[in-house]
Amino acid sequence: MKVGVLGGGQLGRMMALAGVPLGQEFVFLDPAEDACAGVVGDLICAPYDDEAALAQLADAVDIVTYDFENVPVASARSLSDSLPVFPRYQALEVSQDRLREKTFFSDAGIPCALFASVDSYDDLVSAADEMGYPCVLKTRRMGYDGKGQRIIQDRQQVDQAWSDLGGQALILEAFVRFKRELSIIAARSTRGETVFYPLTENRHKDGILITSFAPANAGLLVERARAYAIKVLDNLDYCGVLTIEFFDVDDGLVANEMAPRVHNSGHWTIDGAVTSQFENHLRAIMGWPLGSTDPVGASAMLNWIGAMPDPSNALSYPNAHWHDYGKKPRAGRKVGHVTINAENILALQAELGKFALALGEQLKESGVEAFTRGH
Ligand SMILES: Nc1ncnc2c1ncn2[C@@H]1O[C@H](COP(=O)(O)OP(=O)(O)O)[C@@H](O)[C@H]1O
Ligand SMILES: [Mg+2]
Repeated sequence: MKVGVLGGGQLGRMMALAGVPLGQEFVFLDPAEDACAGVVGDLICAPYDDEAALAQLADAVDIVTYDFENVPVASARSLSDSLPVFPRYQALEVSQDRLREKTFFSDAGIPCALFASVDSYDDLVSAADEMGYPCVLKTRRMGYDGKGQRIIQDRQQVDQAWSDLGGQALILEAFVRFKRELSIIAARSTRGETVFYPLTENRHKDGILITSFAPANAGLLVERARAYAIKVLDNLDYCGVLTIEFFDVDDGLVANEMAPRVHNSGHWTIDGAVTSQFENHLRAIMGWPLGSTDPVGASAMLNWIGAMPDPSNALSYPNAHWHDYGKKPRAGRKVGHVTINAENILALQAELGKFALALGEQLKESGVEAFTRGH
């Protein structure tokens, strides 16, 4: 079975690392010559809308999926004329545009921040004044890792935000004062089987995910997150892994965004769950039975941003799992992660304490103390 993947980044790379033992082979389409999934499959290096490249991919594979939600919808749609493409392209349409995504959440009865469409300076001023401060101005399309966003603290900062982002389709959102961020990862197979991973607690710095802990101590929020995920899965006739990011606020969960794909907040599942999100994504799109999502103890995942540190410190601990994506160092870029796994939360805390030297500043910012206090 050959799987075609639109996008050849670290998510595609980890997907192939899960799929090869299942007997699959991988072909990636990515415009970057040094796309890091190239070492685990064939790489077609071309723009996502290159018709010859899409035809070459369709010829080479049996099924298509994505590691990136910003591929042109038209490419996914045209591929779906000749072979199965999962998740269906409709999920891309919703998640590529923050305005459509928020509208979709509110139509489905899933709480999200107040939002307004912004196409002009006047739109921005009136929406911000009505919504109140602080608020967050975001590009509707192509944002990731906090890029294309400005927090507007007060009326004086409106002009700066407009001069930074104006001239493209924008959305203004109320700033949500959350206690913590949580995500849910669900998988639904083409046969309709649905499974959920435990909720993950996530910390961001400058809009970039730096740490995930699982399983989060989330009590009744687990059922609520699952109910919201089911609405999304049902409304999109979804197949594959789906992620929804939430803010935990006093009276429940507020949806922030969704990703129609495997997700950084699920990387802990490689080393900390019976079946990884990557394996379950592949099983789901193949129509195979899904694997257990049970956690194996407790896990902490720390992202390496910008450049990989020396692994020798972290690897001197037996419970560390090292993941180097083989990407060139660049400020703000996710280049790898480490997962630390322990029998339970207390043991995880002790284990992370031992890592203090190896992990340095990042451990201080990681939120591990709040996470363990919450349990
Ligand atoms: N409306 C908001 N209120 C408070 N924090 C926000 C809001 N929107 C985004 N953030 C913060 O910025 C991070 C990145 O924003 P997000 O909308 O998830 O975009 P991205 O696609 O870059 O991940 C969030 O995880 C959260 O920490
Ligand atoms: Mg996000």
